[in-house]
Amino acid sequence: MESKLQGKFIVLDGPDGCGKSTQTKLLAEWLQEQGVAVESFRDPGDTAIGEKIRQILLNPEYLAMSTPAEVLLYMAARAQLWAEKIAPALEENKCVVLDRWLSSTCAYQGFAGGFEMDKVEKIAADSLERPWPDLTIILDVDLETASQRLNRELDRMEAKGDSYHQKVREGFLQLAKQQENFLVVDATGDVKTVHKKIVQLISEVSFT
Ligand code: TMP
Repeated sequence: MESKLQGKFIVLDGPDGCGKSTQTKLLAEWLQEQGVAVESFRDPGDTAIGEKIRQILLNPEYLAMSTPAEVLLYMAARAQLWAEKIAPALEENKCVVLDRWLSSTCAYQGFAGGFEMDKVEKIAADSLERPWPDLTIILDVDLETASQRLNRELDRMEAKGDSYHQKVREGFLQLAKQQENFLVVDATGDVKTVHKKIVQLISEVSFT
């Protein structure tokens, strides 16, 4: 397990309310227990610049923000996270676990926002040293379960409404079919059940 996972770049992604932040934390803890040196980050964020960009992106006051502006801001935060945190950790042969990544920009801005997924990929190819991880796990959840989990004040992206978020879910599922190294997990169960499914997938997967 240790040698298989050292130096690997793993992303957990999915619609708001899919539980990926909790699952990212649990996965990182489990990897550590297996003796894997691991670092875990959230995208956007985890750098001084990325956290500022995150505040702008999620501020409910900025309703006027256009989809292309969203694409570029998410990509800017990501490029910084890569340079400051992810690339150095991978160079040290650590396993890097990410809470969201490029798959989110494809599903949210590209598919739900109408910017188009292939245009997002083109920008990513020019901005990121490495656009796609070794493995992306999509935590799939229906809209009703997801909104029950988000029982707090919504940020600008979460507040975009049901039809937008339905499309986000479709976008993730479409992307998972198109891209290599994507797996989908049913995330409607409780935290323990979903964690077990993720661990099973990681244990079984063979990286190409
Ligand atoms: P988080 O709260 O799950 O970390 O994500 C912040 C919000 O930003 C969430 O609503 C999803 C959204 N988002 C995008 O719209 N595009 C992206 O590229 C990323 C990474 C997140």
